[in-house]
Amino acid sequence: MRVLPFASPRAALVASLAIWAALTVSCTLTDRTILVPPFIAGATIVGSGACAKCHSNITSGFHDATHARLMLKDDAGAVKNVSCESCHGPGSLHIKAGTRATILNPKISPETCLQCHTNARAEFSLPHTHPVLAGKIACTSCHEPHTGEALAQGGARSLVTASTAVCAKCHPAQTGHFVFPHEVMREGCVSCHSPHGSVNDKMLKSRGNSLCYQCHFQTQNSGTQIMHGGVDHSNNVSRGTCWTAGCHEAIHGSNVNSSLRY
Ligand code: HEC
Ligand code: HEC
Ligand code: HEC
Ligand code: HEC
Ligand code: HEC
Ligand code: HEC
Ligand code: HEC
Repeated sequence: MRVLPFASPRAALVASLAIWAALTVSCTLTDRTILVPPFIAGATIVGSGACAKCHSNITSGFHDATHARLMLKDDAGAVKNVSCESCHGPGSLHIKAGTRATILNPKISPETCLQCHTNARAEFSLPHTHPVLAGKIACTSCHEPHTGEALAQGGARSLVTASTAVCAKCHPAQTGHFVFPHEVMREGCVSCHSPHGSVNDKMLKSRGNSLCYQCHFQTQNSGTQIMHGGVDHSNNVSRGTCWTAGCHEAIHGSNVNSSLRY
């Protein structure tokens, strides 16, 4: 049997329009449009409870997951928790057969997630982005589908601070233990980077020195001088950005220079 999220984008649209009319999908605290679950020919929704029998390793940690409360009304009007099936497709055939071919495993494909998080597709299509649509890393490289906050290693509901640990897995050089860390690293990599994508090189949140002025803006008292940290920068800022002008090259942190020079 073929198990596909959708046969084609067009089929997806048709399916979502048709089923949208028949089903009311409501999710706690959601402000997002929820589309239909992935399609599996001949299968119907059974509810997340049915998965516990054979996948207790996953269901036991699932109760506090970000996606644990996706609900759907069936034709009889009964509200079912369809969380598992909203990513894996309807499970009626699978719970009988217990075979791989009867259920969808998104593996590293982002398509399952993009069904609901439609804006992420636009973000990952920007000129500078993580290679997610190219299939080199997954949404689940950074986000956890089965336990806790959807942002992996999230802990408390702080997407921002959590991100540093997530990034460290693949970018230890920027996250490393520096003698002089740039203090802002405590707030997380997302102070300066948009990990989904950006129009700017290196996925920076803004271009040029305005990136740094978010935090290092100082009221300029004298007419001609540009002061930062008590130092006259008037001749420096014309040479390039704060980090390319031969000045603060060790922007993530330095082991030798407290002003992050090198
Ligand atoms: C009767 C036991 C049983 C139930 C109930 C069950 N599963 Fe499974 N599931 C299995 C088995 C067995 C496998 C592994 C098959 C294999 O390794 O060949 C599996 C594999 C999977 C996979 C991985 C498929 C792959 O291609 O890697 C997913 C995803 C999955 N199940 C989701 C679910 C969901 C969602 C539910 C609830 C709707 C559910 N399962 C209910 C027995 C079950
Ligand atoms: C937000 C989407 C999402 C939800 C909700 C979700 N999963 Fe998954 N699941 C995934 C993705 C993506 C993968 C593949 C990547 C991975 O293993 O992390 C996966 C993998 C799996 C696998 C295969 C694991 C393996 O090691 O091969 C099983 C089994 C599974 N899920 C069962 C479930 C069950 C049961 C539930 C509900 C309690 C559930 N999932 C809820 C997205 C989801
Ligand atoms: C069926 C629709 C649906 C699918 C499929 C889905 N999500 Fe979600 N997602 C939601 C909803 C609804 C919320 C908001 C939940 C809440 O706030 O309680 C959410 C929340 C999130 C959040 C947290 C956002 C925040 O502001 O706190 C992340 C991160 C996330 N999803 C990532 C993913 C990833 C990665 C996948 C694929 C593995 C995925 N989602 C699949 C509907 C979905
Ligand atoms: C390289 C790591 C990384 C990858 C890959 C990634 N994300 Fe994220 N995502 C993040 C981080 C970090 C945040 C928090 C951003 C912030 O706080 O500014 C986030 C935030 C989110 C949010 C909540 C904020 C929002 O934009 O609504 C959702 C939903 C989300 N991601 C979905 C996805 C989906 C879907 C994919 C795959 C298509 C994906 N992410 C891939 C790191 C990643
Ligand atoms: C699963 C591994 C993985 C994770 C986790 C990850 N990245 Fe990446 N990152 C990559 C890959 C792969 C590239 C692309 C490298 C390339 O194109 O040469 C990349 C590229 C980048 C770049 C651009 C580098 C360049 O030279 O243009 C930045 C900036 C970046 N990542 C920041 C982050 C941040 C911030 C996080 C945490 C939110 C993060 N990454 C999490 C794998 C990862
Ligand atoms: C103060 C802002 C800032 C913060 C915070 C920040 N970065 Fe960067 N990052 C930059 C700038 C600026 C560049 C571009 C450097 C260049 O072009 O030489 C960069 C470049 C990168 C690159 C590309 C490789 C390189 O060194 O050129 C990666 C990967 C990266 N950052 C990852 C991270 C990770 C992971 C974190 C969090 C641990 C992080 N960044 C936090 C500003 C920041
Ligand atoms: C989100 C806020 C934030 C952003 C953005 C930011 N910084 Fe910082 N930076 C800090 C904080 C906080 C400190 C530590 C307190 C201080 O020294 O002002 C710091 C310290 C520094 C220092 C060390 C000052 C010293 O000599 O002790 C330098 C140099 C620096 N930042 C340069 C930059 C550059 C260059 C950029 C842009 C690429 C940048 N910062 C972006 C918050 C930020």
